[in-house]
Amino acid sequence: MPITERTPLLVVQLAPRPRRYTHHTLRRCCTFILGSLLVVAVILFLIPASVWKYVPWAYPFPYAYRDGLSYGELQAILQNTPSPEKLREWSNYYTAGPHLAGKNFSQVLWTREKWKEFGVEDTNIITYDIYINYPLDHRLALLKKKGNWTEVTYEATLEEDILQEDHTTGLPDRIPTFHGYSASGNVTAQYVYANFGMYNDFEDLIKANVSLEGKIALIKYGHIFRGLKVKRAQELGMVGVVLYSDPQEDGEITELNGYEAYPKGPARNPSAVQRGSVQFLSFAPGDPTTPGYPSKPGCPRQDPHDYIPSIPSIPISYKEALPLLKALNGHGPRASDFNEYWHGGGLAHKGVRYNIGPSPEDVVVNLYNQQEYITTPLWNVIGVIKGSVPDEVIILGNHRDAWVAGGAGDPNGGSAALTEIVRSFGEALEAGWRPLRTIVFASWDGEEYGLLGSTEWVEDNLSWLFRTNVAYLNVDVATVGTHFNPRASPLLNKALYEATSLVQSPNQTVKGQTIRDVWDGRIGTMGSGSDFTAFQDFAGVASIDFGFQRGPKDPVYHYHSNYDSFDWMDRYGDPDWHYQVACAEIWSLLAAFLIETPVIGFNTTDYAIGLQEYLDSIKPLAENLPENKRFSFQPLEKSIKNLHNVAVAFDAYAADLSVRLGEDIPWYLWWKKIKLLFEIRGVNNKYKSLERKFLYDKGLDGRNWFKHVVFAPGLWTGYSGATYPGLVESFGAGDSENAERWSVIIQKRLEAAIELLS
Ligand SMILES: *[C@@H]1O[C@H](CO)[C@@H](O)[C@H](O)[C@H]1NC(C)=O
Ligand SMILES: *[C@@H]1O[C@H](CO)[C@@H](O)[C@H](O)[C@H]1NC(C)=O
Ligand SMILES: *[C@@H]1O[C@H](CO)[C@@H](O)[C@H](O)[C@H]1NC(C)=O
Ligand SMILES: *[C@@H]1O[C@H](CO)[C@@H](O)[C@H](O)[C@H]1NC(C)=O
Ligand SMILES: *[C@@H]1O[C@H](CO)[C@@H](O)[C@H](O)[C@H]1NC(C)=O
Ligand SMILES: *[C@@H]1O[C@H](CO)[C@@H](O)[C@H](O)[C@H]1NC(C)=O
Ligand SMILES: *[C@@H]1O[C@H](CO)[C@@H](O)[C@H](O)[C@H]1NC(C)=O
Repeated sequence: MPITERTPLLVVQLAPRPRRYTHHTLRRCCTFILGSLLVVAVILFLIPASVWKYVPWAYPFPYAYRDGLSYGELQAILQNTPSPEKLREWSNYYTAGPHLAGKNFSQVLWTREKWKEFGVEDTNIITYDIYINYPLDHRLALLKKKGNWTEVTYEATLEEDILQEDHTTGLPDRIPTFHGYSASGNVTAQYVYANFGMYNDFEDLIKANVSLEGKIALIKYGHIFRGLKVKRAQELGMVGVVLYSDPQEDGEITELNGYEAYPKGPARNPSAVQRGSVQFLSFAPGDPTTPGYPSKPGCPRQDPHDYIPSIPSIPISYKEALPLLKALNGHGPRASDFNEYWHGGGLAHKGVRYNIGPSPEDVVVNLYNQQEYITTPLWNVIGVIKGSVPDEVIILGNHRDAWVAGGAGDPNGGSAALTEIVRSFGEALEAGWRPLRTIVFASWDGEEYGLLGSTEWVEDNLSWLFRTNVAYLNVDVATVGTHFNPRASPLLNKALYEATSLVQSPNQTVKGQTIRDVWDGRIGTMGSGSDFTAFQDFAGVASIDFGFQRGPKDPVYHYHSNYDSFDWMDRYGDPDWHYQVACAEIWSLLAAFLIETPVIGFNTTDYAIGLQEYLDSIKPLAENLPENKRFSFQPLEKSIKNLHNVAVAFDAYAADLSVRLGEDIPWYLWWKKIKLLFEIRGVNNKYKSLERKFLYDKGLDGRNWFKHVVFAPGLWTGYSGATYPGLVESFGAGDSENAERWSVIIQKRLEAAIELLS
């Protein structure tokens, strides 16, 4: 480590000198200085490397002086350790029983014990007190009023079928169908079919004079985050929401096309219900009573109703939606009379004509929803492997909680992969590996309700993350199909291409090709919907999220349903568990690349390229501004161009440092080597800080928890990324003054980035 190299150099520099001088005092003086230097050198030499880690000016030395395994040896271990059998075993464990947020402490202990057993000694349970709901009771019935009495024409079971072939579907303690953060209530009213419940769908209904106030909305799942459907219905004075899964969303794999339904075949089981949160995700994730600060015991709490609904909602299957849809036949306009976004429902062959309603006055729905709201502990498991450079940190995270006892896809494929990765890194530690940077493993709780565990932890550790966090690598749903689907901050593109080119594709027909070879290379933009949100959008940490999603020919994935189970995964999702292996390998090799290369494996040019592409993609939206108030993109384009220029130079400089580090520098030029190490340190600090430069302190308009000026969830989409949200929202509102204001804010952030890299 640092001292072994420096000690002899000091001696050599000074040793020849005393001979020339005969004067006694001078000679004694020299002897004294030489002796002292020797003593100091010996003392420094004796200080163990583990202590040097805590001396900030010594941090650069590990970039050059390493002990333990080489990068290549580490990669070999990470590639050879994960096995299908082990992944299947971990998945089987996590999906054996219910593990709703804050409800299964034995899985917390199991996770901590496993990580410790695999060699991550420093593993702790970090607890927050969260405001949360659990289901008590519910009812959905179709009623016909007949004079002075009411006939129940349909009573929904609100249950998914129990299948012999799928052992967790029949657990006595299986989790009821319900919505996270849904309001309790008992409403009886006429109802209206509102398509996907998107902002524009409701606008279309208003334009068509369909009366919404006081009615219940019957809405299809899909396209946008479910909580925003409920939010818009509530804003328009509706009193309840029923959400169902239309087979329209299943593409080619439907019963109508001749595929049998699960468990006999790959099509959707008609009784499948999508649970899920109805929090207003695009306004703020995390505990809705503590926006922006951690939910510690005794902390002040606010009224949550800016972030969660006040009208009840309930999820149902398409089987149970049929009677409601059919009762609308012949009432009100037809969806096919509306624009193309309303066309094509998947239940026409079952006698549904997709009329919009409202239902006749004597045909009403009773929606009863009873939720228990409490403040209760929630547990993250955090494991740390200290690196030689303690203030450069890579975090790997996955959530553990699921809506159902299963969750073999969401999220426990990722949990199994994380277990296998900890085991792989443990093997490397055992073989003598000493990581360059610090690794943190996180098993989050409460993601499903609203990214609770990760958001509270980020809010809690914000200053430490600002100072140290290089990247956050998230895997939520590891595998539910064959389509590799990443999204990332462009800083991480290079690392992802690197990692995916080291992993074999599990597709047998393209044997010998890597994931990188068979993937089109497309990387999506960061929105929300998983635990990277607080890292990317609140803390300004370059983040990535990936997994294998369902491709058009893959079996239907029963998202948030009892059929997202171990048995489904074993038969349809990933029968050989090879995609799970691939996912684990990509994840660990991506981490290793970021942990081990002395110059952080980022590329700022890719960021500048991304910024220009995002800008091009939002240009058409400016058409929405008033005719006489044309918006000029030129100032922004100029700043992006300047950023591009400094980024190219910066990456070239960083690449050159890497090359020089690999070259042999003669020992007598020792100061050159030390200068090089400090230059690398400087470059790494800049790579680490670049993403932070895009944070705007005051946050986005009307949702100031979100601080990033480039990435945020779409205000009315929730999952998918909106780029330059401040601009996009101003365009949407036709507010050119605000668009100019955001243009200036974004330019300032770009200038800060340019200054950093110059
Ligand atoms: C907790 O999870 C384990 C493992 O999945 C399961 O066996 C157990 O039934 C669950 N416990 C509770 C209380 O739900
Ligand atoms: C309801 O109306 C019917 C006839 O209209 C009448 O025979 C019956 O007694 C009424 N029931 C009640 C409970 O008022
Ligand atoms: C819901 O309200 C109706 C009256 O509108 C009432 O008859 C019914 O009992 C209520 N349901 C529950 C479970 O309280
Ligand atoms: C809606 O109502 C307004 C005013 O009552 C009327 O002018 C308009 O034509 C109606 N639109 C439709 C689509 O019926
Ligand atoms: C995160 O914050 C908690 C609470 O302040 C603290 O105990 C913990 O050490 C922090 N984690 C890290 C990795 O610094
Ligand atoms: C495997 O690769 C072949 C050739 O590219 C492709 O046609 C096929 O759809 C792939 N299969 C899967 C399951 O991805
Ligand atoms: C950075 O990215 C740009 C654009 O993709 C590429 O041309 C350049 O070679 C990359 N530089 C490094 C050091 O990877």
